[in-house]
Amino acid sequence: MFFVANQSARLIATKIDFQRALRAWYRVHARKLPWRELPSLYQTVVSEFMLQQTQVKTVLPYLARWLIELPDFAALAAAPESRVLKLWEGLGYYSRARNLHRLAQQVVAWPELRRTPEAWRELPGVGPYTAAAITSISFGAAAACVDGNVVRILARLTADATEFRDSASAAKIFAPLAVALLPADTPGDHNQAMMELGATVCFRQKPLCLTCPVRGFCAAAKRGEPEAFPRLAPKRIEQRTVTRAWCERDGALLLHRAAAGARRFANIHELPTPEQAGLAPAKVAFGTLLAKKRRAITRFQITESIHAVPAPRGKLRAELVWVPLASIGAITLSGPHRRWIAEILQRRAP
Ligand code: ADE
Repeated sequence: MFFVANQSARLIATKIDFQRALRAWYRVHARKLPWRELPSLYQTVVSEFMLQQTQVKTVLPYLARWLIELPDFAALAAAPESRVLKLWEGLGYYSRARNLHRLAQQVVAWPELRRTPEAWRELPGVGPYTAAAITSISFGAAAACVDGNVVRILARLTADATEFRDSASAAKIFAPLAVALLPADTPGDHNQAMMELGATVCFRQKPLCLTCPVRGFCAAAKRGEPEAFPRLAPKRIEQRTVTRAWCERDGALLLHRAAAGARRFANIHELPTPEQAGLAPAKVAFGTLLAKKRRAITRFQITESIHAVPAPRGKLRAELVWVPLASIGAITLSGPHRRWIAEILQRRAP
């Protein structure tokens, strides 16, 4: 602990040189990203929401399409939720889209623009990171962005050997250091430079220390063991299996559409589980196997198998809908389900 406090104090003592080195590197090496080229508050907000759980290269085409269809807060606020979800389809974590929609409705109702991280934290879907990103980039607020990338950089700069439960608890511990390193004049650029360093140089594995602009400040690099930091407790991975029913009748597919008020996937279509379809699990499991898919969601490793089975008899449950195969493109499906359905249909195409 004493060593770490020492390392943090040493870094803060040289913060002007640190900021200068980082800024000079960022000016030359920053990727040309749309929200950096022509920044606007709206574009910053939308891009930060999209980037919350998604990589830059995935976000780019979605952001471009979004800005054409919904170019400002007023257009977004007035759009029906189905249009917002359709534009988000494939990005996952749909609560982000719903929160962004509600955020726009609140922002357009503000009598005047609010510029502090505290005010933005009150909006739906805005946590400490997003509030810091939006207000530092758009208004020059002195707020530091601390996510997994920044934790990694700070843990290495200070060679902090604390074992953290997870990246979120490490972020809380490193927040004061991140704030202490912020320059008063350009906090937004500094935050983006830290993100950029994490994304393009200070990789989790095999970091590019030889090209790092702040290598001279890095205690872990000096020790020759950057990969040893940060120390995070190993994640407990849990295996899950899910069975899904493929019920088809008269050119239509049976899908589950979660209720509008559902916590997750509200209004989003998916192939139903036996329970959702009102079918006996054993009966579905014995249906012809059409596809077996594995995916990882947070700490769960999920194996999903899709079986062709006859449709449930009697009156359909409230959240089940028959969707003509010809209209599948028009509804909002979760990204993996769209891929699976396309693959199954393509396989049997003549
Ligand atoms: N990740 C989150 N915010 C970002 C930004 N502004 N630039 C690059 N990556 C990011």
